[in-house]
Amino acid sequence: MERVTDLEEYGEAFRRDPHPLYARLRERGPVHRVRLPASEGGQEVWLVVGYEEARAALADTRLSKDGTKTGAMPLDEDLLGKNMLITDPPQHTRLRALVTRAFTMRRVAALRPRIERITAGLLDDMLPRGRADLMESLAYPLPITVICELLGVPEMDRAAFRKISTEVVAPSSAESEYDATVRLSEYLTELIEDKRCAGPTGDLLSDLVRTTTEDGDRLSPQELRGMAFLLLIAGHETTVNLIGNGVLTLLRHPDQLAALRADMSLLDGAVEEILRYEGPVENATYRFAAEPLEIGGRAIAEGEWVIVGLSAAQRDTARYAEPDRFDLRRDTRGHLAFGHGIHYCLGAPLARLEARTALAALLTRAPDLALDGPPGPWLPGTLIRGVRTLPVRW
Ligand code: HEM
Repeated sequence: MERVTDLEEYGEAFRRDPHPLYARLRERGPVHRVRLPASEGGQEVWLVVGYEEARAALADTRLSKDGTKTGAMPLDEDLLGKNMLITDPPQHTRLRALVTRAFTMRRVAALRPRIERITAGLLDDMLPRGRADLMESLAYPLPITVICELLGVPEMDRAAFRKISTEVVAPSSAESEYDATVRLSEYLTELIEDKRCAGPTGDLLSDLVRTTTEDGDRLSPQELRGMAFLLLIAGHETTVNLIGNGVLTLLRHPDQLAALRADMSLLDGAVEEILRYEGPVENATYRFAAEPLEIGGRAIAEGEWVIVGLSAAQRDTARYAEPDRFDLRRDTRGHLAFGHGIHYCLGAPLARLEARTALAALLTRAPDLALDGPPGPWLPGTLIRGVRTLPVRW
C-alpha cells in the first residue's frame, strides 16, 4: 500500500515550485493518494498526475462534479447556489446553455478594442514610473476591469471585490475562505437585486436576470448568484496569473524572450506554451467517484475525491518531449490548461485575448523590461498557481 503524500509537509518550497514533487510522483505512477494542505481542508484525495489518465478523467462521466450526490461535499444553497463547475448534466447543460452565447469567439473578438484601450491606459500610468509591481499595475487590473464591465459590477466596488475573491481561490485558512465566500455571496445578492430593480443595463448580469428560454425556463435567484460568483472568480483570478506567470517565465528565459521580441508572430504560440509550462490553474476543481472505478490501475471507491493535476499532466514526458524546457515554438496541442470535456473553460477565448493583448503591449512599450528583484510569495493552496507580487523595471 502506497503511503499518503502529505502536501502540507512540502511547505513553501512546494508552492514555489511544485514540479519536482509532481515529477517524482509521475515516475511512480499516474495516480496517487495525497493529503491536501490544511488551508484547503486537509482531506485525503486521489491526485491524477499522468497526462493520458488526466485527460481521460476530465471527460469521465463516472466522475461527478456534484459533491452533494454522494454527500462528499454538502452545499449551502442559500450561500452560493449551484454553478456549472459543481453540477452534472442535465443541470450543467442547462446552466451552460444560458451563458454560452456571451462567450462565443465573435462576442469576445468584439471586446478587443476595449481590452486594448484598458491595457494602454494601465501602461500609460505605469511606464513613466520606471519600476512597478506588475501584478498591481497590469496583471490584476486588466482582467478585473474586463470581467466587471462584462458583468456590470460598479467600479467603486472593485478594490474590495479583488481582496475577497483572491481569498476564495487561494485561501490563507479554511475560515478565511468561508468568510470571504459569505461576504461575496452577500455582495452578489445585493448586486443582483439592484439589477432586477434598475431595468435592463445591457451588461451580462442584467441580461441573465431577465433571460427566459423558449420553454419559459429561467435562473432561480440562487442560480443567478452561483453564476455571477463563478464568472467573476473564474473570469479574473485565472487570467491575472496567466499574465503574471507569462511575464515571469519570459523574463526567466531571456533567449525565448529575445526570440519573441524579434518575431511577435510567435506570440500566440508563446501564450499556449505559458499555459502548458506554468498554467494558472494547477489542479482542476474537485471530482467525486459516482461509482467504483479504476484510473491508472488504482481502484477508486464510490464517493472518493479525485483531483486532476493539470500542471503535473502538462509536464509528462509521455506527452511532451523535455517537458521542463520552456520553448515557445513547441507544439503544445492537447494541453489541459483550460480543462477538457464538458467543463472545458467557457472563458478560454477571452483569457487568450487578454493575455495576448497585455503581453504584446507590454513587450512593445517596455523594450528593456527586466526583473527588479525576486517575485513575491507564491499563492497558497493548490488550485491557482501565481505570485502575489512581481517587481519589474524597464
Ligand atoms: C487563463 C485563464 C483561464 C484558465 C487557465 C482557466 C481554466 C479553466 C479550467 C481548467 C476549467 C475546468 C475546470 C474543471 O474541469 O475542473 C475552467 C472552467 C471554467 N472557466 Fe476558465 N479559465 C480561465 C479563464 C476564464 C475566464 C476569463 C472565464 C470567464 C469569463 C472563465 C470561466 C470559466 C467557467 C464558467 C468554467 C466552468 C465551465 C463548465 O463547468 O462548464 N475562465 N477554466
